[in-house]
Amino acid sequence: MHDITENETRSRVFAGGTNARASGLAERVMTVLNGNRLKRRQYVGLLGQLYHFSAAAQAHLRQVSDRIDDPALSQWFVRHAREENGHHRWAEQDLMDLGELIPPPLPATRRLIERIEEVANGPKPYLVLGISSVAENLSPMLDPAAVLPGGVNGAARYITRHTLVDRRHSEEVNRQVAMLPADRWVEVMEEARRFEELMFEFFLAAAGTPDD
Ligand SMILES: [Fe+2]
Repeated sequence: MHDITENETRSRVFAGGTNARASGLAERVMTVLNGNRLKRRQYVGLLGQLYHFSAAAQAHLRQVSDRIDDPALSQWFVRHAREENGHHRWAEQDLMDLGELIPPPLPATRRLIERIEEVANGPKPYLVLGISSVAENLSPMLDPAAVLPGGVNGAARYITRHTLVDRRHSEEVNRQVAMLPADRWVEVMEEARRFEELMFEFFLAAAGTPDD
């Protein structure tokens, strides 16, 4: 399946590839924050929705590895699913420390999860790589010290741990994207663009506006 030349791979990696798109999402999120920290209520809202996103994403990572016809990519998804396992519990623990309950998923969260399900169960399961590229490239671009509200203390497991874990995940996912055959690379990038829109809507809905 990996039938592109090493030079092509290298140029895609260094040209930015998914990085360019995914940092686009981080930039859009930062633009909305406009240099401000999240308010406590926004942070709680985000954690509640991230809980649902994270739980659903893990389940589909496990499931999609069985359906991918590219053995190397499938293996990577098996390993990656193992590494993402249980991370929604970090959001749950953070919420518990803040004295908050897990809220029901918002419509924007349901749309995000429905898209993951649709791709994972669809005729081109390798497109999940586009979804992973958006998700994994977001956290390393965010600085918890700059965006988290004051006074949350230890209730910051989900965000701070992901900013560390996802540095390696983002490198790995970008490499997997760069190694795709040309036709699949185009499709995966298109899925990444589509998922980025859904993920941006997810953030806006989860965090709400600072004043409402
Ligand atoms: Fe990750």
